[in-house]
Amino acid sequence: MVAPLDVPRLVAGDSFVLRSWELGDLPLVREASSDDYIPLITTVPSVYSQEAGEAFVQRQWERASTGSGYPFVIVRVADGRSLGTVGLWLRELNEGRASLGYWVVGSARGQGVAAEALRAVTAWALGDLQIPRLQLYVEPWNAASQRTAERVGFQREGLLRSWQQVGEERRDMIMYSMLGTDLSSPAAC
Ligand SMILES: CC(C)(COP(=O)(O)OP(=O)(O)OC[C@H]1O[C@@H](n2cnc3c(N)ncnc32)[C@H](O)[C@@H]1OP(=O)(O)O)[C@@H](O)C(=O)NCCC(=O)NCCS
Repeated sequence: MVAPLDVPRLVAGDSFVLRSWELGDLPLVREASSDDYIPLITTVPSVYSQEAGEAFVQRQWERASTGSGYPFVIVRVADGRSLGTVGLWLRELNEGRASLGYWVVGSARGQGVAAEALRAVTAWALGDLQIPRLQLYVEPWNAASQRTAERVGFQREGLLRSWQQVGEERRDMIMYSMLGTDLSSPAAC
């Protein structure tokens, strides 16, 4: 049996904290539902209702309680508003690998939210959890996500052809990785 995980509270720079999901985060789910891309790559409902939003939050709690990973909400310290998510997923942990995913709602983009949050989870996963390799998958057109990964110190490894079903079609993904041994490099966390 897999042990339940406690999602910790992490500080992400001076402006953000990361914490577990709360039902008070439903406005975040509602805004994410109206995004063109987020519902395609996550289980965020593409049509929002209170019931669908609560079911989404419930799924995040289950991911922690079943040991499948750590779903974090990114919260702005100044006003307590939740702005997006970062998830650390442990499906391949037995192989020494974990993967990351992230999104920020449109009204909060371009302010360093994703990079600060990804940097904090990456440092915690490589440092405290001692996971040897973190990886993430980004579509070739997604310049914002590629810059986010590179800014944190992830290295681009190559193109995975027809890697993933996104909506109606198979899509290529660029594989990025970061290793515990990269932590001492200047661009890292
Ligand atoms: C990708 C995403 C998370 C970026 O969030 P964000 O909080 O706006 O990103 P940041 O402000 O931290 O910016 C990080 C870097 O990306 C760059 N960037 C941000 N938006 C950009 C855009 N539209 N085009 C090009 N670069 C962009 C920033 O300039 C910064 O790079 P820099 O340090 O070189 O200046 C957000 O656009 C998003 O949620 N998109 C939809 C979901 C998604 O694509 N998730 C990732 C799937 S792999």
